[in-house]
Amino acid sequence: MSESPFSEVLRDATRGDHGSAEDESYLKALMAGELSREAYGEMVAQHYFAYAALDGASRSLAGDPVAAPFVLPELYREEALARDLETIYGADWRSRIAPSKPTRTLVARINQVATWPGGYVAHHYTRYMGDLSGGQFIRMELQKIYGYQPGGGVDFYLFDEVGSLPRFKNEYRARLDALPVDDDEKRRIIRETRLAYLLNTEVLGDLGRVVRAGLAA
Ligand code: HEM
Repeated sequence: MSESPFSEVLRDATRGDHGSAEDESYLKALMAGELSREAYGEMVAQHYFAYAALDGASRSLAGDPVAAPFVLPELYREEALARDLETIYGADWRSRIAPSKPTRTLVARINQVATWPGGYVAHHYTRYMGDLSGGQFIRMELQKIYGYQPGGGVDFYLFDEVGSLPRFKNEYRARLDALPVDDDEKRRIIRETRLAYLLNTEVLGDLGRVVRAGLAA
């Protein structure tokens, strides 16, 4: 493993994977304001299932020395996502949503790594560092496009309890740098992070059907 801090090695090793995720047609259409609220809700619904699994993995790994520094209840997203879905779809939102096939695959993998702290860190990093970074740009665009206010719609992207995001992200990187694992395990974590990107990108890829349906209409 190189002498660089692990947070840098991990970011550099996954730069290309980030580019592919960011490039998905669904995200481009969403950011261009081309999707209806309900079409935006399709992504929120998929997030709901993935984060229910991720938050569950956090709770089950809270006592593990490798995972514990990442188990931060202020990051849990299930309740914020439920508020967003209620705003988008109304009180019967639960009956309106279902996990897609790629989401079921992602959820199965997150549940599997709930017994492997390093794997859990990989999925945690891929989602939360993204939500705290590009996610903040996405939130601002969504607020402009749909007019959502805090309280429901884009609460998923609001991390009020985290405080300063730049400071939190620096602390998060310090946690990655301090992971008490050997080089082989670091390599496995990098591999799992690339898989996490791939599985998340497949969820977005499947959401492309929403865009295609819109274009066909
Ligand atoms: C419109 C889509 C997206 C945009 C514009 C975007 C933009 C960005 C930007 C500008 C950063 C760097 C922020 C910084 O250094 O503080 C970042 C970091 C990150 N993004 Fe994204 N992103 C997008 C989608 C995604 C997706 C879909 C994922 C994961 C599935 C993701 C995961 C991450 C992660 C893990 C980081 C942290 C990298 C690191 O510093 O270690 N992003 N994103």
